[in-house]
Amino acid sequence: MALGDAQGGTQYAMGEKFAELIHEKTDGQVTVDMFPNGQLGSEQDTVSSASMGLLDLSVLAINNITPFSPTVGVLTLPYVITSPEDAKTLTQGEIGQQLAENTIRDAGVRVLSWAYSGCRVLSNSSKPVATPDDLKGLTIRVPRNEIMIASYQEWGVNPLPMAWSETFTALQQGVVDGQDNPYITINAMKFYEVQDYITDICYVFSLEPLIMSESKFQSLSPDMQEIVLEAGREATTHSYDYLLESEESIKQALVEEHGMQIIEPANGESEWIERASSIWPRFYDSIGGEERLAEALQALGRDLN
Ligand code: MLT
Repeated sequence: MALGDAQGGTQYAMGEKFAELIHEKTDGQVTVDMFPNGQLGSEQDTVSSASMGLLDLSVLAINNITPFSPTVGVLTLPYVITSPEDAKTLTQGEIGQQLAENTIRDAGVRVLSWAYSGCRVLSNSSKPVATPDDLKGLTIRVPRNEIMIASYQEWGVNPLPMAWSETFTALQQGVVDGQDNPYITINAMKFYEVQDYITDICYVFSLEPLIMSESKFQSLSPDMQEIVLEAGREATTHSYDYLLESEESIKQALVEEHGMQIIEPANGESEWIERASSIWPRFYDSIGGEERLAEALQALGRDLN
C-alpha cells in the first residue's frame, strides 16, 4: 500500500485500520505492507502504477485522481463540500457509488474506502492572509489539478502546480511560500517547521480514498473480494470518527506547541467563496454536466442557483 502522506495523519490511520482488518478477517494469512511518505512515487504516479497492476493499493488525495477520472472533480469544486457531514453524504451516497464506478472505467482503480481529512486550509511562511488580495506576491503550491489552479487564479495569483512528494522541500527551500492542506495533514507532514501562518478557509474538503488496482481485485476469489470490500467499508467508518476525534486537538497543537498563527478569513470568507465558486461553470463538461453538480448540491440540501 502506497501512501502519499507521512505516518500520523488520516491517510495512515485509515490505511492501518484496513490492513488490521484484512489481517484479522483472513486469520493472518494476508498481510498489507504500508509505504508512507511517497516512497512508492508521487500520488499521481501511484494511480498509473495501480492501473497497470504494478501496485495493489494506494491512499491518496482525491484531487490527485481527478486528472485520471475527471467526473470525480465534482468533489473538489470549491465550496461544494464544506463539512465532514457533507463529505459523508456525498461519498457514502449514490454520488460516491457512481464516481467509484467511473474510476474503475476511466482509471482501472477501485475505491475501497474513504479517509476524511478535513477542510484544506491555506498555510504560508510570509504574512497573515485574510483576503484573496493578501495573496499578492506569494508563490503558492497547488496539486496538478485544473480546478484548484483555476480557484487560485480567481483569487488573483498564478499558483505553482507541483507533486505532493516535492512540496515539503519546496517550502523549506523557499521555492514556494505556501500551500493548502487540512490541519491534520499539515501536522503529519511537519509543515509547521517551514510555515508560520494558516488562513482558516474551507475551499475544498480533503477526501483521501484508498484505491485498489482493478486487475488485482478481479484476480481475487469471490470470498477474498468480499473481505476486501467489507474491510474498506469498516475503515471508512473508522476514518470519519478519527477526524471528528482528532482535528480540534491537532489544530490546537499547531498553535500552542508549534507556534503557528491562525488567521480568520475576512468578512466570513465571502470574497474567497464568491470568487472561487465563479469557476464552477467552466468545469461542467469535465464533471459530466451541470446536472451532476446540481445533484450533489441537492443531496446536501442546497440549490445550484
Ligand atoms: C496534495 O496536496 O497533493 C494532497 O492533498 C496531499 C495529500 O495527499 O495529503
